[in-house]
Amino acid sequence: MIEVEHLTKRYGGQLAVDDVSFTCEPGTVTGFLGPNGAGKSTTMRMICGLTPPTSGGATVDGVPYRRLGNPGRKVGVLLDASAQHAGRTGREILALAAITMGLDTARIPERLAKVGLDKTAARRRLRGYSLGMRQRLGLAYAMLGDPAVLILDEPANGLDPEGIFWMRGLLRGFADRGGTVLLSSHLLREVEAVADRLVVIGNGRILVQGGKDQLLGEAGTLVRAADPAELDSLLQSMGITGSRSADGSMLVPSDPQTIGKAAAAAGVVLLELRPAGAGGLEEMFLRLTGNGHGDSKLEEVTR
Ligand SMILES: Nc1ncnc2c1ncn2[C@@H]1O[C@H](COP(=O)(O)OP(=O)(O)OP(=O)(O)O)[C@@H](O)[C@H]1O
Ligand SMILES: [Mg+2]
Repeated sequence: MIEVEHLTKRYGGQLAVDDVSFTCEPGTVTGFLGPNGAGKSTTMRMICGLTPPTSGGATVDGVPYRRLGNPGRKVGVLLDASAQHAGRTGREILALAAITMGLDTARIPERLAKVGLDKTAARRRLRGYSLGMRQRLGLAYAMLGDPAVLILDEPANGLDPEGIFWMRGLLRGFADRGGTVLLSSHLLREVEAVADRLVVIGNGRILVQGGKDQLLGEAGTLVRAADPAELDSLLQSMGITGSRSADGSMLVPSDPQTIGKAAAAAGVVLLELRPAGAGGLEEMFLRLTGNGHGDSKLEEVTR
């Protein structure tokens, strides 16, 4: 369990993190989203005791990170996959971590294999690793002490599609076994695929947080009819105002079941009916962070 309470970080005149509070529960993956410079890494560094907060605080299992005895056994951290000695091999890096945590180094080959680093890679020095290989080593490093909590800053960065798919399964499995994951990413579809909860941050402030399904569900329903005029009059009779997108589909502030049932009852033939949230994270992200189209159709209907 990670608890972040009113975390604030000021650098000179700039508030990098401004009164941020959220909780990550066991058994869940929390996606931490925000544009460049939003304050994700600073928040994560404060949780891990690497950056002292200006005010507020964070705990892992009720204890501030710096006061955890043998923290690697409780929290696995991957903030910067390149922040390792470039002249050490992958195996040496994990061996040193194992010794520091008082663990048996015999587990290392198995751990390297688990993240897809073969014997040749294990013997290679870090400076010869690709970005994706560094991320894989960083994940093995974070999980070496079998912690119940993972804090990962953009772990999918540099991974190939197979690697991203693999990591999704790894994190999902970890959370399903009761683990707690805080994961920042720019890869919205990845977050959408794996996260249970979302925390969206912009300019240091939390813009929105909550269950993924709830947040994306609020995006509404996308519906397309064989005869758009029939759909228009159906929606009108239901007292629902939608907005039409360029491809002729309607975005309506309702759920698919309500629209589907009403269309069936009225004999309106639908060609498409789905929650807008299926591709809605990007739309929500752009809308909330102000980097998107100011005249977002979604905004019109969900306001
Ligand atoms: N050591 C520092 N000194 C001064 N300003 C800093 C420092 N670290 C971060 N900042 C500022 O704090 C803000 C938040 O940075 P942070 O690295 O937390 O963003 P981020 O959300 O992780 O972005 P990205 O997606 O690019 O990784 C930025 O404006 C950044 O310039
Ligand atoms: Mg960052």
